[in-house]
Amino acid sequence: MANLWGGRFEKEMDEIVEEFNASITFDKRLYDCDIQGSIAHITMLSEQGIVSKEEKNKIIVALNKIKEEIEMGKIQFSLNDEDIHMAIEKLLIGRLGDIGKKLHTARSRNDQVAVDTRLYIKKEITNILDNLKLMEEVLLLKAEKYYNQIMIGFTHMQHAQPVTIGFHLMAYFQMFRRDIERFQQSYERTDYNPLGSCALAGTTIPIDRHRTAELLGFKNVTENAMDSVSDRDYILDFMNAASIAMMHISRLAEEFVYWNSQEFSYISIDDSFCTGSSIMPQKKNPDMAELLRGKVGRVYGNLIQLLTVMKGTPLAYNKDFQEDKEGLFDTIDTLKKSLLIFAKMIDKTEFNVENIKKQLNKGFLNATDIAEHFVKMNIPFREAHELVGKMVKYCEINKKDFNNLTDEELREIDTRLSLDYLPDLSMEGCVKGRVSYGGTAPSEVLRQIKSGKHWLQKM
Ligand code: ARG
Repeated sequence: MANLWGGRFEKEMDEIVEEFNASITFDKRLYDCDIQGSIAHITMLSEQGIVSKEEKNKIIVALNKIKEEIEMGKIQFSLNDEDIHMAIEKLLIGRLGDIGKKLHTARSRNDQVAVDTRLYIKKEITNILDNLKLMEEVLLLKAEKYYNQIMIGFTHMQHAQPVTIGFHLMAYFQMFRRDIERFQQSYERTDYNPLGSCALAGTTIPIDRHRTAELLGFKNVTENAMDSVSDRDYILDFMNAASIAMMHISRLAEEFVYWNSQEFSYISIDDSFCTGSSIMPQKKNPDMAELLRGKVGRVYGNLIQLLTVMKGTPLAYNKDFQEDKEGLFDTIDTLKKSLLIFAKMIDKTEFNVENIKKQLNKGFLNATDIAEHFVKMNIPFREAHELVGKMVKYCEINKKDFNNLTDEELREIDTRLSLDYLPDLSMEGCVKGRVSYGGTAPSEVLRQIKSGKHWLQKM
């Protein structure tokens, strides 16, 4: 069949133009949303007396049949179909003749593509939220298992203070919690029905846009037709949420990479998530963690691409907007898969607790605790800081640790010091004492886990 808009044209499209113009190769995945939108539209048209009940019924039966055939792989789309909207309408007209030609009453592809994309994003946000929740569940389980196992806490990648493994994992729980909230907000902003905005200015035909909103499960109706067909903010909101989530994935993936290194040996990533080297027989590389770290690049790229496409486009619809889809789909696929793979990988990862313990005596991790102990003895903090700083310097020069300094040595460092003034120097003692709200004390980590579980259950 010729192009549905062929009326005013005398020449066929050049082959390369047809290919350049077509979006069917990638927007065919909107077929289900497109058919949903059409069924709601024709239902409303018949309720409004614009088409007859019989016509509506025939169109709905034919649309459902088309959907079934697409799902069974019976339909071959061609570049000549241009996009999914044209393809389905052509099929419909091919089957129903003149009745099929009524579906596009009071509708344009401009509002059609907007309604399809919004429906699609809403559905995919639900899937992404499921995967994010899975990630949170896995993190809670691991955090609970290791809530009191001590590891090195870093700042500037330098040994800073002892923390628990559970505490470290719960930091990621908070990041993914904000991602969940961001996707919920993105869902709310997507939940507006643009259908019936038509090409850009609404219509003289007496349609009911609130009715199609209701039929399609949209909470709201867009307010201005021109904005409705040229707005892609909801896609950008979605891609922003996805970019931040991928950034969190990338950060945790990096921790997995270095924790898994020979130098750290905090974890040993399960064989099923690693690959070997084609030349070095001993190698077991953390490829999945590296891919998870790297996938963020394309997701940022997709966001920047669409921001750039949208920049400077005048009202209302412009074909530039067709460039919104490939990046969107890629972002959805990448994020969904990354979350699933990472959740599985974390679930299968155990920490080498003994190995982690061995590394705790480097780097004076308890220095801050000694200073805080001095504060409790009424020494002003800056002075306490200086005293402990002197102890560190002495130990470094003399290759000693805090816990093997003698009384004499302490007095030599500063006349105000003595063994009696030192607190419990064990890592367990340090960690146990950090009970401030949000701190790393095991009791506090358990509280964080409990509150996290409570929040997740309410979702
Ligand atoms: N394939 C188009 C897109 O994705 C659909 C809308 C086309 N509208 C038009 N007037 N050419 O944006």
